[in-house]
Amino acid sequence: MKTLVISDLHANQAALDAVLSHARRKGATRVICMGDFVGYGAQPNQVLDKVRRLRGRKWFIRGNHDRVASGADDGSGFNQAARHAAIWTREHLSKENLHFLRSLTLGPVTTDDGILLCHGSPFDEDEYVFSEYDAHNILRKFPQKLVLFGHTHLPSFFVQDARGGISGWLVRQASTFKLEKGKRYLINPGSVGQPRDRNPMAAYAIIDHERQAVHFLRVEYDIRSTQQSILRAGLPRVLADRLAAGA
Ligand SMILES: [Fe+2]
Repeated sequence: MKTLVISDLHANQAALDAVLSHARRKGATRVICMGDFVGYGAQPNQVLDKVRRLRGRKWFIRGNHDRVASGADDGSGFNQAARHAAIWTREHLSKENLHFLRSLTLGPVTTDDGILLCHGSPFDEDEYVFSEYDAHNILRKFPQKLVLFGHTHLPSFFVQDARGGISGWLVRQASTFKLEKGKRYLINPGSVGQPRDRNPMAAYAIIDHERQAVHFLRVEYDIRSTQQSILRAGLPRVLADRLAAGA
């Protein structure tokens, strides 16, 4: 069995399409998404229509941008560009997609095979996990062997060995890591729709449960068409520009 792991789609249709067509050849039968389906980008309905129709077993949780775009929060904690995009999204969502966003579950959520899912951290949807110290605080509190998170938009791999020592890496290229017995892991697949690790390619991951491995993958997509859609919608230019820089 294989699981497609995605996060932080951010209403970027071309990036999502590129990831799904790349992943299709890998044979994943389940999908996990750690939230931020929308926000920043100008194609929220296109992205939500697509993810709602994905086949196979699905686990979706809410991200902080989904929370604001759905109206559950006024976005006062956001910077100006993020808030502008979230309010624009709320005004442009179809009835079905607004309902979908409102019904997303707040993490943490555990899958039927014991993987813990969260948007920021299991403590807080808005908390960023950057460091080995952050990873340590989570792994000492939560017993799962594997925790999947998003929110930082940085593909990241943290491993805790049998003695409790933690090492972490930013994974900027396609790479495979083994999931070994006696070790525990905290993994962020990176962002589909707005990568921030200075690699503008869309990021995602596949977990191969038989081989006990996680594949970090990167895919090119039509950045220009996404930028044009953002500008056409009248959203802040910075949201278009940063896609080309992957920052
Ligand atoms: Fe995000």
